Amino acid sequence: MQDRVSPLLLAWYDSHARDLPWRVPPGGGSADPYRVWLSEVMLQQTTTAAVAPYFRKFIDKWPDVEALAAAPEEEIMGEWAGLGYYSRARNLVACARAVAERGGFPRSERELRELPGLGAYTAAAVAAIAFGQRAVVVDANVERVVARLFAIDDPLPAARKAIRAAAETITPERRAGDFAQAMMDLGATICTARDPKCLLCPLADLCRARETGRQAELPVKPPR
Ligand code: ADE
Ligand code: SF4
Repeated sequence: MQDRVSPLLLAWYDSHARDLPWRVPPGGGSADPYRVWLSEVMLQQTTTAAVAPYFRKFIDKWPDVEALAAAPEEEIMGEWAGLGYYSRARNLVACARAVAERGGFPRSERELRELPGLGAYTAAAVAAIAFGQRAVVVDANVERVVARLFAIDDPLPAARKAIRAAAETITPERRAGDFAQAMMDLGATICTARDPKCLLCPLADLCRARETGRQAELPVKPPR
């Protein structure tokens, strides 16, 4: 079943990708690493709808990483106001300056990970979406889709290891960036936390949770 996931999902994405300001259309190839990085940092703990106007404002004001790196920190913090989680903005400034200093973003997940404040998730997302590298990108939406597809029923956070291993088996060699964003879109629009719309899902025939009627129960929340 694993090898059938990405062709079905990518075909769905080709006609259903959300039109988001930091994206290139499906199959459009690489995106500007600056735009990908900036959007992924903003999207941590914040919804796409809340991020969109901030993203546009930042790109208008600072169209590339050199411009952002040259801006005074207080000015960037001022424009960030309202997005919350201000440590993200401070890390953003440090990272922009490091990237400008080295003459651009590195292409590999490993080198991206070495930039200040750039975590495992962001490194994988930038490597896949901006540089077309095969990287396994797992955010909360992807986690939910994978837990359901494979009916992984250990509670979170213990399930994370199994979820990541399963995600690894379905990540394609080509179009890994489109694949990652397709998983995010599926999780945000179809395979939603409370009300998965399995009748509209391109992966319905492959889904072990659906097969056993457990889609709404997975992933299992940590005991509290
Ligand atoms: N959430 C985090 N990154 C995203 C992306 N690239 N597209 C849609 N939702 C996202
Ligand atoms: Fe999610 Fe349902 Fe699709 Fe399975 S069939 S991936 S539970 S929407």
